[in-house]
Amino acid sequence: MSGALDDVRRPVRRTADAVGETTVHEGELLRHPAHTRVLHWLVAIFFVPALLSGFAIYSPWLFHWLTPLFGGGAMTRLLHPWFSLGFVIAFAAQLVNWLALMSWTPDDTRWVRRIREYVTHSEQREPDYVGFFNAGQKMYFWTIAVSALLFLLSGLPLWFPSSFGPILVAVSYVLHDVAALLMLVGFVVHIYQSTAAIPGTFHSMTRGVVRRSWAWTHHPRWYREMTGQDGSHSQPISDRR
Ligand code: HEM
Repeated sequence: MSGALDDVRRPVRRTADAVGETTVHEGELLRHPAHTRVLHWLVAIFFVPALLSGFAIYSPWLFHWLTPLFGGGAMTRLLHPWFSLGFVIAFAAQLVNWLALMSWTPDDTRWVRRIREYVTHSEQREPDYVGFFNAGQKMYFWTIAVSALLFLLSGLPLWFPSSFGPILVAVSYVLHDVAALLMLVGFVVHIYQSTAAIPGTFHSMTRGVVRRSWAWTHHPRWYREMTGQDGSHSQPISDRR
């Protein structure tokens, strides 16, 4: 299975990375190569209008100010499923790209048990066993995967109601709204975490690189794998508020 996936992934990654080169300066580490960044921003480009047009359809009374963005009410309804389909397809590609990095390990269960320390920022540095992604990031990723599937399964009956029947359509409304709520909460936390909460994270998705001290502080095992050093001389960067 993973061999067949690699056969698809390798040439796509090679082509994308040849087009978008990433420059890594002294004191930095490559975190997200060009193909990952392109996929991430494609997901966002489809997700944000899907979310906004979804709000406008959900409550035209509250969100009527959003519909002019899409060319009026009728156009908003027409475009919403297409934005959403784009989001599902782009995320499916990211799922294949990140599958190995996002797989759950016993260390992730350890991380979840100490989530209180993470949320209260009682320690400046993440535990030694935290690799490329921490368990919180993995949970966010899998929540999106489940929600995207829910969106797709419940979206089709809402798109073509006459082909499905009233009960399925009614259930789909509920599932669609539950998935949207999950995604909305996750998205707000995600933007906060990857910009204001942890400075230095955002440009991993723009320039593709992070500072070594960032890696040592937030992803110590990944730092060791990349550099071969444990970096015990380093000082944690006190950038978590
Ligand atoms: C629009 C504003 C967004 C910003 C500023 C943003 C920023 C970032 C950054 C900086 C990372 C890299 C984190 C790291 O290397 O540790 C990242 C990762 C990620 N992004 Fe976004 N992103 C945005 C939108 C989205 C959207 C719309 C989705 C999907 C619905 C998404 C899903 C993810 C996932 C699954 C990851 C990997 C796990 C994680 O870091 O939480 N992002 N994002």
